[in-house]
Amino acid sequence: MFRRIRVLTVLSLLLIGAIMQVGWAGVARTNKLEIFSWWTAGGEAEGLSGLFSAYKRQYPNVEIVNATVAGGAGTNAKAVLATRLTGGDPPDSFQVHAGLEIEKYAPDRFLESIDSLYRSEGWERALPRGVLTLLQFKGHYYSVPVNIHRANVLWYSKKVFADNNLQPPKTFAEFFQVAETLKAKGIAPFVMGDKEGWEAGHVFEVVLIGVLGADGYRGLWTGKTAWTSPRVTEALNTFKRMLTYTNTDHAALTWDGAGQYLIDGKGAMQIMGDWQDGWFQSKKFADYGWAPPPGTTGIFDALSDSFALPRRAKNRENALNWLKIAGSKAGQEAFNPKKGSICARTDCNQSLFNAYLQSAAKDWQKDALVPSVMHGAATIESWATKYKDIIALFVTSGDVARTQTALQAACKDAKVCM
Ligand code: GAL
Repeated sequence: MFRRIRVLTVLSLLLIGAIMQVGWAGVARTNKLEIFSWWTAGGEAEGLSGLFSAYKRQYPNVEIVNATVAGGAGTNAKAVLATRLTGGDPPDSFQVHAGLEIEKYAPDRFLESIDSLYRSEGWERALPRGVLTLLQFKGHYYSVPVNIHRANVLWYSKKVFADNNLQPPKTFAEFFQVAETLKAKGIAPFVMGDKEGWEAGHVFEVVLIGVLGADGYRGLWTGKTAWTSPRVTEALNTFKRMLTYTNTDHAALTWDGAGQYLIDGKGAMQIMGDWQDGWFQSKKFADYGWAPPPGTTGIFDALSDSFALPRRAKNRENALNWLKIAGSKAGQEAFNPKKGSICARTDCNQSLFNAYLQSAAKDWQKDALVPSVMHGAATIESWATKYKDIIALFVTSGDVARTQTALQAACKDAKVCM
């Protein structure tokens, strides 16, 4: 009798232990969700926490582990993520740009296709065709987009411009006139923070678009435009000249650190993506203006952040629910107004967005769209990284001929140029 009770007690203890391990009824239900991104700056962090809140509203019992690796444009995060994926320790879901950047993470080996989610969630109807095309890799979807960012924005201090009776420059000639006027007044005309390297590549991509136009720029990534062309030389010379108007501490600052110049009225213009709008909001700074950088009126240099599903995610069910929220109207409305981006979906309520974002949403509809290279849309990561390193070096060397040769070689390495 006592023996039976003892055996039963031991058995029930074992059962309780098993339930605690794998969840009731044998389903491996976990209460965690690890989300990997590089969103730590002002605006980025607020946007992400908006998305977390949208998730929490539906899944209040899941604890979200916010696995961020600081560094703009994923400079540090991408390498950490690759190591985790190849080492068999994936996060449950991770940030990746829509476009060829996904190739870096070997989707065939390390990611799960989420085609079925696209069907069940109706995403093919909710997202624009061009974005859907960008998201497909070898005919499958591996990630769901949360937003559209614009890379080509010239942010300026309204006060500095008004005090000096200036208008935002539409051409490079106007840019240099404005810059001269401001330099004479002791204001940093063109603010940069290129500490992490990618920021210079970002500005140069915008200069390339301004000099080559939408078609010319697009062709650089498809082999239709030669990197050896005189227009690329012109773009390099233009960028070199722009660099003579930057703040002296540019190499010590990140993109957001540089933005402080505009807040303080010590700097006038900055070319950066519209996460800057989210950052300004997080700083409660409202006295900024925006315009297309020189030569890019009517062109929208686009990129999109998305979330992917690794194979062997520890909390797969929670990750699938996360992706559903990320692709939902409620999720995107919670995220984008704070992040400084517009929805990837076409049905978001525009009244939730500030004046800048409303204007970006309109431009997105009518402008010529070009893919950002520094943010994963234009080409594979290995080529984008070479491009980034070459331009970061150019900031210090100023060697136009050598830089152009290196850019051409990078295109050859990617087997796009002959
Ligand atoms: C981009 C990313 C944006 C923004 C920016 C700066 O690559 O798409 O969401 O965070 O980097 O970190």
